[in-house]
Amino acid sequence: MDFEFSLVGGKISGPSGILTLMDDLGRALASDPDMLMLGGGNPALVPEMVSLWRERIDVLLATGTMDKLLGQYDPPQGNLQVLASLAKLLKSRFGWNVRIENIAATSGGQTAFFYLFNLLAGKMKNGQHRKILLPLTPEYIGYAPLGLSEEHFVGCRPLISTPDPTQPHIFKYHLDLPAVEQTMQRHAIGALAISRPTNPSGNFLSDEETQQLVELAAAHHVPVIIDNAYGAPFPGVVFRDTVPVWNESIITTFSLSKLGLPGTRTAFVVAAPEIIRAITAMSAVTGLSHGTLGQQMVAGLIESGEILDLGPQILRPFYEKRSQFAVESLTAKLRQHGVNGKIHMSEGAFFLWLWLPDLPIPASELYERLKRRKVLVVPGEPFFFGLEEPWDHARQCLRLNFAQPANVLERAFEIIASEVAAIMKGA
Ligand SMILES: Cc1ncc(COP(=O)(O)O)c(C=O)c1O
Repeated sequence: MDFEFSLVGGKISGPSGILTLMDDLGRALASDPDMLMLGGGNPALVPEMVSLWRERIDVLLATGTMDKLLGQYDPPQGNLQVLASLAKLLKSRFGWNVRIENIAATSGGQTAFFYLFNLLAGKMKNGQHRKILLPLTPEYIGYAPLGLSEEHFVGCRPLISTPDPTQPHIFKYHLDLPAVEQTMQRHAIGALAISRPTNPSGNFLSDEETQQLVELAAAHHVPVIIDNAYGAPFPGVVFRDTVPVWNESIITTFSLSKLGLPGTRTAFVVAAPEIIRAITAMSAVTGLSHGTLGQQMVAGLIESGEILDLGPQILRPFYEKRSQFAVESLTAKLRQHGVNGKIHMSEGAFFLWLWLPDLPIPASELYERLKRRKVLVVPGEPFFFGLEEPWDHARQCLRLNFAQPANVLERAFEIIASEVAAIMKGA
């Protein structure tokens, strides 16, 4: 039988960077033990975190909570006790003016963005077509296919600097605020969205840059969505000091995935009550309720406030060490093979963002060549969605997950550098 899909069905089930990424990752993990996995966004199995989750499961079993959480649905807003504890924690530790009406659970951050992007952008009642503005592109590949309308996103190029002249191989993106302002004037915008730290580049928009964006958005009466998938206050994979801020013009998301629980598919959205009511309704319609396990696994940690210590005490040191090792190792391999490569300053998250300004082939082709040599990376192109003009830079970048053990990174970097060197020589 030939199935015919609707326009919306066709759009959401069609090809996308995130589908290829998750598919390649899953297949390689399942079928090819020799593949060097620098592809998706899996967190490392951090030993302290693994023990913590085992302990939490023991407690859930011993107290009988496990039976209840497996055997009943939570309300679509989430577990009300967990949401109340989270509100209390955010208020007492950061002074955020939040109550239970300001928080909803979702089935992972990805689902939260599907709801938010389609709630705030697309065709409006007055016929206006609103877009989600990405102030600093490249941005998270997973956002790209989420908009149900055509041209759901518009993105701005960043400014590029070399922060330390003694390290010419390290570059950094910065917010181009005038470009963002101009884009807001040219398009009807429903919300601004940033991942902070940014997947793929590891850029961390400073508190000052973030404040500038919040003020600009407020002046246009639209919210700023801050995606804390890796950010503060949890999971806290941020290599900079920062003060987490929130007010009703900010929509903030937290996920348990990068704490080490991606399998539980759990995230929280903190926003104005009107947004939370809408998210709750969308959750009920699309999934009735959410997984109960993730919320219960962190319930005690939220209640005691310990969830805020995991980043500073365990995750930041772990990933910062990996990041430093990865930068040193990749720099050495590139030099050894005479490759002109620049690495984005690593300020958080799990990725090195490699820029190869002289690469004569598209990054997507380099990705295929590397896959044949058993190194899985993510090519840069799909992270540049929403830009209004083509940009050569978009085909010169690779994202490399550094959560893997040192020996895997070293072998993979050797192959990447030697392959690029061979391409430069015309091989
Ligand atoms: C920046 C960013 N946002 C959101 C997500 C979605 O994560 P999850 O749905 O597991 O919470 C990811 C996953 O890697 C991410 O990197």
